[in-house]
Amino acid sequence: MQQLDYSRIPAHIAIIMDGNGRWAKSKGLPRTAGHVEGVATVKRITEEATRLGVKYLTVYAFSTENWNRPTPEVEALMNLVLTNLEEEIFMKNNVRFRMIGEIGRLPQSVARRLQECMDSTAANTGMTMVIALSYSSRWEIARAARLIADEVRNGTLQADDIDEDCVSSHLMTDFMPDPDLMIRTGGELRISNYLLWQSAYTEFYFTDEFWPDFTEESLHRAILAYQQRQRRYGKTGDQITDEE
Ligand code: IPE
Ligand code: IPE
Ligand code: MG
Repeated sequence: MQQLDYSRIPAHIAIIMDGNGRWAKSKGLPRTAGHVEGVATVKRITEEATRLGVKYLTVYAFSTENWNRPTPEVEALMNLVLTNLEEEIFMKNNVRFRMIGEIGRLPQSVARRLQECMDSTAANTGMTMVIALSYSSRWEIARAARLIADEVRNGTLQADDIDEDCVSSHLMTDFMPDPDLMIRTGGELRISNYLLWQSAYTEFYFTDEFWPDFTEESLHRAILAYQQRQRRYGKTGDQITDEE
């Protein structure tokens, strides 16, 4: 197997962690067992990403649309978030923790835990680990439009000054660069309302592996695939090689 180039590790990796339910079903287990196993994968992959020198890891844990799932499954997922946010591990690994999404829609206990973790890890200087919870990109973009409209109304912003940077800075991801690599597990070839604006030039990697089966080696495979791509941003391949 080809070796990873440690000097070209993607700075920001975003992951759509999909396939927990089908993983469980294939083993004759309840869907919730898949989510429990999925949490174990999050911990493994976070640790490995830290080791590799990834600067930002953004994981999609619960979409706005996931509120439409059966209540017991939603409750089980919220409970897993509540019981697995471990400040100690973040502190040990110098990880800064952030959440993106509609925090006000989450159960109060979950919102409080999230806020505590964000506050206590805010000064950490290692990897930033971001969890997308009650998140959807269209919600986020509509929210940005409202914030911008407010500023125009207040007179703190001129409509003519609304450009791409202005939009980006009103998104919940304003504290990080756009993802370099987006991984989706579970075999579906879609983006499911995740980071639509931010992924304009992201490299996509899809794998059939269910999230609970995703290993450190799977992550390496995704990064290797990324390292074999040429990111052209609209230019020609020759222009890019000349720049290098
Ligand atoms: C991903 O796994 C986790 C969440 C969306 C919360 P799923 O629960 O979507 O698993 P599948 O896609 O049904 O297998
Ligand atoms: C996407 O998975 C959202 C998360 C991984 C949290 P879904 O399982 O909800 O996506 P769809 O509905 O199959 O597109
Ligand atoms: Mg799914």
